[in-house]
Amino acid sequence: MSRTVFLNGEFVKEEDARISAFDRGFLFADAVYEVTSVRAGKLLDFDGHMDRLERSLGELELNYKLDCMEMLEWQRELVRINEIKEGIVYLQISRGAADRSFKYPGPDVQPTVFMFTQTHAHVNPADPEVGIRVTTIDDLRWGRRDIKTVQLLYPSMAKMAASKSGFDDAFLVEDGQVTEGTACNAFIVTQSGSIVTRQLSRDILHGITRAAVLRYAREAQMQIEERSFSVKEAQESAEAFITSASNYVMPVVDIDGVKIGTGRPGTVARRLREIYLEESLKAAK
Ligand code: PDD
Repeated sequence: MSRTVFLNGEFVKEEDARISAFDRGFLFADAVYEVTSVRAGKLLDFDGHMDRLERSLGELELNYKLDCMEMLEWQRELVRINEIKEGIVYLQISRGAADRSFKYPGPDVQPTVFMFTQTHAHVNPADPEVGIRVTTIDDLRWGRRDIKTVQLLYPSMAKMAASKSGFDDAFLVEDGQVTEGTACNAFIVTQSGSIVTRQLSRDILHGITRAAVLRYAREAQMQIEERSFSVKEAQESAEAFITSASNYVMPVVDIDGVKIGTGRPGTVARRLREIYLEESLKAAK
């Protein structure tokens, strides 16, 4: 069945969506994006995704006036038309179409706003009861990972390399320390029960699920340390897990062939997943 997608203010069949070959998203990866999860037909962490989108647009001086209420109506409509109960809404805003030039074009160029939905089956094949196995790969991405751009070739290469060597995903490593996963934030739980995830900086994407999970963990009086950790520390930890809009909280049970804890999803990760699923749904739009 053909999806209905959103392009520049209109809802159109996906085969009718036309974007210029001169679009800077295509020529320069000059575009930012957000992936928002849909559960029970509702949008999770919508405000967080809009705040980060606004920040990404600002960092790139991308001239788009974000109207969050209007965006909420558009996303709800897209979810409704495509009858999405569990899945995602993908939103991309590029600088628009212009003659090829390294300089940004003038203010007359209109950004391209594109959105589509995907059902969960197409997004997240991992089973939280089993967890995932990750390998480690050098983090060779650019230095502004805090901006959510569509420049995703290196994470895509890393994901393929992980898959070819029999893993579900990869932790990216810089100076011996884990930055994050290919498309998720990385966490460990120390033997003394402290939840550790890398501190916010330009080195990682400021995950919306990460922020929500840390907030819920704090509310549940759990111990949190925002600092970097090495691959060795991760392998010796009691538990590991990842967070993202498409995975929520997903246990990691093996890193480079070394079992984490019992080699089964840990209790902290399970609990945080439960809390996240419950609380984020209560606050969903
Ligand atoms: N990826 N780190 C990276 C590099 C990511 O690409 C993502 C999200 C995250 C988690 O952020 P959030 O919790 O806001 O989803 C961390 C999305 C899901 C994607 O590209 O599909």
